[in-house]
Amino acid sequence: MELAALEKQLRILQSESTAKIEAATSLADLDDLGTSLLGKKGALTDLLRGIGSLSADDRPKIGALANEVRAAIESALKSRRTVAGAAELSARITSETEDATTPGPLPAFGSLHPIPETISAIAQIMGSFGFTVVEGQEVEDDVTNFQLLNIPEDHPSRDLWDTLYLREPGRLLRTHTSPGQIRTMRTIEPPIRVILPGRCYRYEAVDASHGFEFHQVEGLLVDRGTTLADLKGILDELARGLFGPGTRTRFRPGYYPFTEPSVAVDVSWDGSKDGWMTILGAGMVHPIVLENGGIDPEKHQGFAFGLGVERIAMLRHGIPDLRALLENDLRLLRGLR
Ligand code: DAH
Repeated sequence: MELAALEKQLRILQSESTAKIEAATSLADLDDLGTSLLGKKGALTDLLRGIGSLSADDRPKIGALANEVRAAIESALKSRRTVAGAAELSARITSETEDATTPGPLPAFGSLHPIPETISAIAQIMGSFGFTVVEGQEVEDDVTNFQLLNIPEDHPSRDLWDTLYLREPGRLLRTHTSPGQIRTMRTIEPPIRVILPGRCYRYEAVDASHGFEFHQVEGLLVDRGTTLADLKGILDELARGLFGPGTRTRFRPGYYPFTEPSVAVDVSWDGSKDGWMTILGAGMVHPIVLENGGIDPEKHQGFAFGLGVERIAMLRHGIPDLRALLENDLRLLRGLR
């Protein structure tokens, strides 16, 4: 190639290259341009291959020109890099900056199922009166579940408490938490103030308000000079704690073999036909039951109550069907929060 032609091509390369460099907007593009123009296999090296056919006089001229072109391209790259780098940095700063005032995402909190939630509400209220939580046992024996509670084997009231029996004779699934009264009296000296929450079983046809498996909370207080007035006072507070300060209570005569006298306790309730809803059974612990628990009824008296947790949970949360409490449908649980 002739000197003049090569010179011309070098000038063209220079002007074309600087134009491309000016048009580039990103550092990555500029890196690519650097390689394709000045790299070992780049455009400049390519052109200089023609140098071999020049005369020895001309070669230094082309060498000098090539250096000039290289320097021009390098300086164009350098200044363009500065501009593009600054633009990229400011774009990153805008796009990556967090707004520190945006609220953080809330983690998904779980919540208690209405049954344990109701039990803990009861435990909290009763705890404020000095009652502690004690657990009975789900597998009971006939003696403790019935006989020591003054329900003899042939007693007609047993029909109320028919249950599921284990193969082992005399063993059954407890029908109420009341046998826990006997076990507590046999292990703790008066004064006794306990509640016994737990699962109970009955041989029942299941419907919206009956289950064969359900929860109760038993309450037991044994002390000197305990009267029905003590029972009334504490159950009033329990009802108000569970259903609100305006709640009224009504004590009706009831019958349970293990209490004498026995009462049924209702709370005022807008949703029911007559404005009342029965929430529990209670009474003064029968002297025979105290004796069965190893307590002298001449010295100590007591009151007891037993309430159905499902019923209370349904009333507190407006759940119409008891079976919903066993189905573990998360939509129900989320709706109750
Ligand atoms: N155990 C009774 C039941 O399951 C409820 C009950 C009533 C418990 C009166 C008591 C009580 O402690 O005094 O139907």
